[in-house]
Amino acid sequence: MKILGIETSCDETAAAIVEFTDQRKLRLLSNEILSSMDLHAMYGGVVPEIAARSHIEAIMPVIERALADANCTWDGIDGVAVTYGAGLGGSLLIGVLTARTLAIIKNKPLYRINHVEGHIYANFLTETPLPGYVLPKNQPEFPLLGLIVSGGHSQLVLWKDHFDYTLLGQTQDDAIGEAFDKVAKVLGLPYPGGPNLGKKAHDGNPLAFDLPKSKMPGKYDFSFSGIKTAVLRLAQAQIGEDYSFPSFRLAERLSEAQKADIAASFQRVAIETIVDKTIQAYEEFQPKTVVVGGGVAASLELRQQLSRRLPLPIEYTDPKLCTDNGAMIAALGCYKSVLNQARADPYTLDIHPNLSM
Ligand code: KG4
Ligand code: ZN
Repeated sequence: MKILGIETSCDETAAAIVEFTDQRKLRLLSNEILSSMDLHAMYGGVVPEIAARSHIEAIMPVIERALADANCTWDGIDGVAVTYGAGLGGSLLIGVLTARTLAIIKNKPLYRINHVEGHIYANFLTETPLPGYVLPKNQPEFPLLGLIVSGGHSQLVLWKDHFDYTLLGQTQDDAIGEAFDKVAKVLGLPYPGGPNLGKKAHDGNPLAFDLPKSKMPGKYDFSFSGIKTAVLRLAQAQIGEDYSFPSFRLAERLSEAQKADIAASFQRVAIETIVDKTIQAYEEFQPKTVVVGGGVAASLELRQQLSRRLPLPIEYTDPKLCTDNGAMIAALGCYKSVLNQARADPYTLDIHPNLSM
């Protein structure tokens, strides 16, 4: 059984084919990603109109390459899975309209996928003939504690089984990846900020500065807007200026050592905020596995803090499957198909930019 997954929720146009094997494992047969990141770099963040236009140009070539890489024709495809939320409206629309059209003209079942759930399902892929992928050896087991940490999401979710989950908590303002990106911008690090901030932090002292950890009323909720502002004030204070000093001029006044110390201190505290609640949820719910998904799952600091503090080891997936991709959408699509979940109507499926879990 093979599913084509289509993902266009932000700036990556992605398509992949995943096979549900006779041994009930997931095998990644192709994974094509075309990012429009370079076009956004000069603006310091994703410009929705540019992202949508890029998806229009890229979507069909990306799907055709995904089929070709997997040595697959449409006859071999058993269904189409597509991200219908959450994400940028214009971007989602291109993926959903393409998937709807293909489902109709190729006469295939259509499955609608929640992008955030998809991030966790990237970790169910354990086999691939493709070179350059390091995948988990074992599939996650239920009950499963899922931590989703990306540019758009920070969520803790408890899965009892496939399609049976409870949202424990989530960010009430910025996502952690967004906070990484914004702090990186203040420090003048190139876009995308997250990975570059991690590199800069490597040269700094993580204990140089004390930054505040947010206290939220919800036990498993997060907030990252406070620490972001605290970094801004810290950077201003470091160069002897007050709150009125413009953030875009800070980078030219801070020394490389100051930037590295701020990056390291921010990274430590922001990641600790996430890890504290993950440990708390682990202790309360005693899951069999802990699974991390989303772009920030690639963070070395996150991996180190979790392995220091969690009593069970985590199998991480390849970094190419942590950031947005079609494979995670196809992976969840496989389970929707084999577990007889509802199909989407290809004539009416709509986008849900603010879809929650
Ligand atoms: O999952 P993703 O590709 O897109 C969303 O669904 O949002 O995540 C992108 C986010 C960005 O904020 C990026 O800065 C962050 O993940 N990111 C990282 C790292 N790699 C990507 N953050 C920290 N450390 C990294 N190594
Ligand atoms: Zn994502």
